[in-house]
Amino acid sequence: MTEPSNSINKAFSESAFSRAARWARKPSAERTRALAEMLRRLSALPFRFGKASFSKVFLAHHPDSHNFSNAHPEFHVLFKRFRKHNEANNAGDLARLWSLILNLKQIIAEGIEGDFAELGVWRGNTASVLAWFAARSNRRVVLFDTFEGFHERDLKGIDAGQRAYFSDTSVELVKEVIGGECEVCEFVRGHFPESLDSSHSARRYAAVSLDCDLYEPMKAGLRFFYPLMPKGGDLVAPRLFQPCVGRGPYGNRRVLPGNGRIRHPSPR
Ligand SMILES: C[S@@+](CC[C@H](N)C(=O)[O-])C[C@H]1O[C@@H](n2cnc3c(N)ncnc32)[C@H](O)[C@@H]1O
Repeated sequence: MTEPSNSINKAFSESAFSRAARWARKPSAERTRALAEMLRRLSALPFRFGKASFSKVFLAHHPDSHNFSNAHPEFHVLFKRFRKHNEANNAGDLARLWSLILNLKQIIAEGIEGDFAELGVWRGNTASVLAWFAARSNRRVVLFDTFEGFHERDLKGIDAGQRAYFSDTSVELVKEVIGGECEVCEFVRGHFPESLDSSHSARRYAAVSLDCDLYEPMKAGLRFFYPLMPKGGDLVAPRLFQPCVGRGPYGNRRVLPGNGRIRHPSPR
């Protein structure tokens, strides 16, 4: 008579063998689909156990509109540009990328008029997302930066003692990151707000990314752009609550609620 544990082992190995054989006979498209489904289930495991936050990183789902409706086919190209030459920081900052993509698409869908602008471009990772959607909605993108990093003029007050970060860039590098869409971009090189001219105040801005990290240019950016934005426009200031910009009168929640995003009241 066979030992019970032996028969279990035999049944298991037979079924594992026949399952592997069944798997090998499947058409390759079906195998890829099944593999993708297995990976999806595996990646969902941490959520089942309520484990999505680990010290300084967290796991998150892509939006349903991406996972189930494939509504954002541009995501893959934009994710490459968003992290190019900046993998260590941006490859793990999908929340910021999705927030930009979804809000820019909403602005276009609502027909909010105006160009896009960014103050604080560095290597062009977020500018590439603005440029992608500007090119597809007949708009321009105005990109303000020294392209040489923080300017010593701003390193005073609450920013005194900061190092001159972000000097490791150039307009050429930014163009490479943005790709073909740099045709719709205007590069304004120099210290903001001195780099402004009358052509900049003669336009309207549907979306503005204020990402220059320092108190003085953030304040100047808010003062300049906010009055030039139509109702429903979107002003994004992702780093507003970093210590260097989060303490002054323009860096507190009474002025900018939520996650540093101001939406002008919707026209509807
Ligand atoms: C955080 S980086 C921008 C990152 C970029 N938005 C991204 O996410 O890919 C900040 C940039 O602001 C620029 N900047 C800071 N103060 C500025 C000023 N007064 N005028 C022009 N550019 C400034 C710096 O040169 C630097 O490139």
